[in-house]
Amino acid sequence: MQTELFPAVERRSDYTFQYNAQLGRHGWLRLTPAYSVKLVRELIKRDCTPGDVILDPFSGTATTGLVAAEMGLEAILLDINPFLVWLGHTKCYPFAAAELEVLRNQFQYCASEIVLSESCWRPLIHNIERWWHPETLCILSSIRQRLAEHFGEPGSNPYHNLIWIAFLRLAIETSSAAFNHVSMSFKDGSVPYSYTYIRQLFEAIVRYILHSAHSPLPGKATLLKADARDLTFLHKHLINRVITSPPYPNRISYIRELRPYMYWSKFLCNGGDAGALDWEAIGGTWGTATSNLKHWRPANLILPERLYEVCYQIAQSGDKHSRLMSLYVHKYFDDMYTHLASLRALLKPAATLSYIVGNSCFYGHFVETDKILMDTLLHLGYQNIRCEVIRRRNSKRGLLEFKVQAQWNA
Ligand SMILES: C[S@@+](CC[C@H](N)C(=O)[O-])C[C@H]1O[C@@H](n2cnc3c(N)ncnc32)[C@H](O)[C@@H]1O
Repeated sequence: MQTELFPAVERRSDYTFQYNAQLGRHGWLRLTPAYSVKLVRELIKRDCTPGDVILDPFSGTATTGLVAAEMGLEAILLDINPFLVWLGHTKCYPFAAAELEVLRNQFQYCASEIVLSESCWRPLIHNIERWWHPETLCILSSIRQRLAEHFGEPGSNPYHNLIWIAFLRLAIETSSAAFNHVSMSFKDGSVPYSYTYIRQLFEAIVRYILHSAHSPLPGKATLLKADARDLTFLHKHLINRVITSPPYPNRISYIRELRPYMYWSKFLCNGGDAGALDWEAIGGTWGTATSNLKHWRPANLILPERLYEVCYQIAQSGDKHSRLMSLYVHKYFDDMYTHLASLRALLKPAATLSYIVGNSCFYGHFVETDKILMDTLLHLGYQNIRCEVIRRRNSKRGLLEFKVQAQWNA
């Protein structure tokens, strides 16, 4: 095993989600922890050849699958979050020009019949007025009602889902959400927008999304809702390449990040559902997920020594949440162990793995995700294990992103 540490590590915004914003389908909806199209392209160019099957077991916004499909390759994408599977399915769909034209006309007809009403359904997001000004909220919920009447709720029709994705983009653009941090935050105060402004913005977003949906996809990406800790449902020896970015042990909750999208599309209905979904996810930490930790027991009895050491240091650090945070880190690596163990049966001989991961810091103790994962891979029989620093994550010294790679030769 070998770790190459670069003396000066750059921030490299081209290796973050920011690089994707202007890249057609990749830019439809923002999810801050998405990784960069540039990075995935480089990995695919370097490692893959035609006929390879790529797996991304933590597909998020489907970056890996969309890049693979754009480059003429086949990918299988898994995620535990049903909203992301829905989004990824639409992003990777091979749309036909004639049907996009029909959709454009349908949208124009539908938009001409929006009726503003105070009594339309609106999502049960906690503190919703922090997100949207009451006037904006009335306009958004009236538009939503008209879309649901015309296109049905978000579901399995990829063409109709394009309009829904445009609506979610509209909701976020007219909200007070700010994306200038790693996780979503709020600008000061929600702003009212006029109906004319919102309508014009919506039409512009729909035009942009329908235009980029024309882009050809010579390859194919298949999306499945699945738990990466149990991969027994997939065929054995199917995969040559694994390219992925799992959650990091840094307490970022994807459900929290995605909640405006998930509530407006009805993938979430209340706070209880949100906590339950986050508890299912690796690294989930929101609402009930945190209190569930107190009763959690490890599935694997032997994990890397390095993990036990840092968990002990965190537990001893004297904060009132120290023990809980120690359990949080322990569970994260226990889950990753279960995932990497389950993955082995799917891999073809000489299959390669690339995991983009980040370290974290609790009460001054660094959780060396890269090293603990390398130890885990070694323990599970993977070979040729190595690691490279990719970039510095933020101004806090020592928070880095790594590419951990390995091979399966059994
Ligand atoms: C860092 S994000 C992936 C981002 C992705 N590379 C992209 O570009 O959008 C990690 C993803 O792992 C998913 N996830 C968490 N636990 C999971 C599990 N047990 N099985 C499958 N997916 C899971 C989360 O829902 C989240 O979408």
